Amino acid sequence: MSSAPRTARRAAPARRTPQRQRLVRPQPEPPAGPVRSWLFVPGDNERKQEKALASAADAVILDLEDSVLPAQLPAARRRVAELLRAPRESRRPQLWVRVNAPSSGLLQDDLRAIFAAGPARGVVLPKVSSAAEILQLARQLSSLEAAARREAGSTRLLIIATETPAGVLSLAEYPAVLAPLPRVRQRIAGLTWGAEDLSSALGALARCDTSGALTFTFQLARTQCLLAAAAVGAQAIDGVCTDFREPARLQQELEMARRDGFTGKLAIHPEQIAPINAAFAPTEAEREHARRVVAAFATAPAAGVVSLDGRMIDRPHLLQAQRVLAAAQRDQEAT
Ligand code: COA
Ligand code: MG
Repeated sequence: MSSAPRTARRAAPARRTPQRQRLVRPQPEPPAGPVRSWLFVPGDNERKQEKALASAADAVILDLEDSVLPAQLPAARRRVAELLRAPRESRRPQLWVRVNAPSSGLLQDDLRAIFAAGPARGVVLPKVSSAAEILQLARQLSSLEAAARREAGSTRLLIIATETPAGVLSLAEYPAVLAPLPRVRQRIAGLTWGAEDLSSALGALARCDTSGALTFTFQLARTQCLLAAAAVGAQAIDGVCTDFREPARLQQELEMARRDGFTGKLAIHPEQIAPINAAFAPTEAEREHARRVVAAFATAPAAGVVSLDGRMIDRPHLLQAQRVLAAAQRDQEAT
């Protein structure tokens, strides 16, 4: 690296202290535990936005991408900025904005519109085709946060990672690319997968076989997303169930999602929120078990491994128990 950046870094402390005192805080801390339900709402639809904000969703995603017609995009950006600016009585739901894809040529103006307004909890990035695109957005967010005097890293990221064929293939590179970049990793709240755009990119005629199960290609996308999320320490969020008039289909997807390790799900309709929240809430039996695991370690603080009911439990069990209790705490705060 040349001497220029180093000079800039040496000169910084004198200016930084007063700036830090004027930092604009982001929205108050979200409830502890994973964000279970993420409700999409078109960026230009005020009626749906009002309903979404009054819903029990943990997060609302104000969409500037596929659900907004190109001609409506400027109006949608203004409307989203208005919502971000508006004072809110409740800290729920969190406000996120889905911006346009890295390759769209629209992303810069989307980000400008968001940062000119109040802080968003995070940005949802669609049609990601490589880890490099995430790094680039993270750099842009850092500059925008500094310019807006917001806390560095306060704008989180949800990555829709499987909407292009290259995106699916590149998921395997995330752990290695992100390993040396803890700040970028911490910014990434979650990874999610989408089948709609991938179908169209592939020209696939269907996502499911005749029994209703995902075909191998879409299972691969879903599994790559799940594995990469765990590997980079982010939440794995299941994609949307577009059959919003079929609660049985949603229920089936939720059962599989929870079984496999997803901790949240995207939604497109308010009726999907209650089943999603319920599915990812730990059961009473799980809470009780988690309390006992934590208690077992508390009584043996120097031990890395203890026994409970004749079974060995070690650190991964403790971590899982702590996650369950954080989620239980979050549910309590949400009601
Ligand atoms: N957020 C908040 N409210 C919503 C909503 C959403 N995502 N989707 C529907 N509603 C509201 C409707 O406004 C309606 O209320 P109203 O009668 O008081 O106006 C009520 O819920 C019932 O809606 P319904 O008639 O069942 O659905 P619809 O046919 O109006 O809309 C969709 C169906 C799919 C177009 C709509 O759910 C939607 O816009 N979803 C989000 C789409 C999106 O953002 N996609 C991008 C990500 S994939
Ligand atoms: Mg799309």
